[in-house]
Amino acid sequence: MTRHLLDVTDFTVDEVNAILDMAEAPIDSLGAPLTGKGASLIFEKPSNRTRHSMEMAVVQLGGHPVYTRGEEVGFDTREPVEDVARIMAGYHAVVAARVFEHSTVERMAGAVDADGASVPIVNMLSDWSHPLQAFADALTMRQRLGQLVGRTVAYIGDYANVARSLAEISLLLGMKVRLACPTGFDADEAELERLSMIGDGDIAQTTRPPEAAEGAHAVHTDTWVSMGQESEKEARRRAFEGYAVDGTLMGEAADDAIFMHCLPAYRGFEVTADVIDGPRSVVFQQGHNRMHAARAAIAFVLDAASSSNPADFSTSGAVR
Ligand code: CP
Ligand code: NVA
Repeated sequence: MTRHLLDVTDFTVDEVNAILDMAEAPIDSLGAPLTGKGASLIFEKPSNRTRHSMEMAVVQLGGHPVYTRGEEVGFDTREPVEDVARIMAGYHAVVAARVFEHSTVERMAGAVDADGASVPIVNMLSDWSHPLQAFADALTMRQRLGQLVGRTVAYIGDYANVARSLAEISLLLGMKVRLACPTGFDADEAELERLSMIGDGDIAQTTRPPEAAEGAHAVHTDTWVSMGQESEKEARRRAFEGYAVDGTLMGEAADDAIFMHCLPAYRGFEVTADVIDGPRSVVFQQGHNRMHAARAAIAFVLDAASSSNPADFSTSGAVR
């Protein structure tokens, strides 16, 4: 069966650990599985880290990345999402997309599966989740903190795509997750219940940032205004007053706590400059780890696809 990468929860804890190990392994140990093959990278939203880390990860695996803006393929305007996915799966060994609606990547996976094509669909950020970010976050925490089981990760701010994937991977890896989010921008009861079923499920939420940060080993945040929410900028900035990660809040965390942010960051809003540019910040290691995590995640799903379904779907001898 083709392994897609739509969410962290598509993977077991052993698989997540395997991907993190692969991310730290020498590049040539992954065996260049994309040699002579393509990777389609479709972006409905802007990107710096995800585009570059994915393009370089594909190159490091021996493949050729093809970048396309969302308006060029025109999901559900120029042609149906399913038709885009089916065509791409005939050209490429992996198809990745950054989308407004999570259902888009789910529909792409469904279309590819319906055709029996062994082409993984990779979510490069949706309104629901950002799993590639979470793999890099976990890799960075592991490199900085060592053993993660029982450690505490605090997330301060908007409970959105990045926070959800971070919570999922942290829980899978046996960490305690503490969320501090304003009412209306938090995880609802059903979501907290869902999270509590992942790993050991040590999840708690508060509206008070110091409570979440207390004793935490890693303090994370994300922008208060995600891509597509620009019209809500002023209202959101008012709603998140008091949720900035500053030196005082970091003072609540463990003595050796690290500060993390997926970037892009807005200094003076969700984080103060002294924190993000200070000695506890690991945001650039975290950003650079996007490439190592992406390379490992792509190699993992490709290997799973080829070992479980070795049949060549093509009828024309085309490489894919
Ligand atoms: N963190 C992240 O996904 O960054 P980009 O939006 O620049 O890809
Ligand atoms: N939550 C942010 C993350 C950017 C990497 C967004 O969706 O815009």
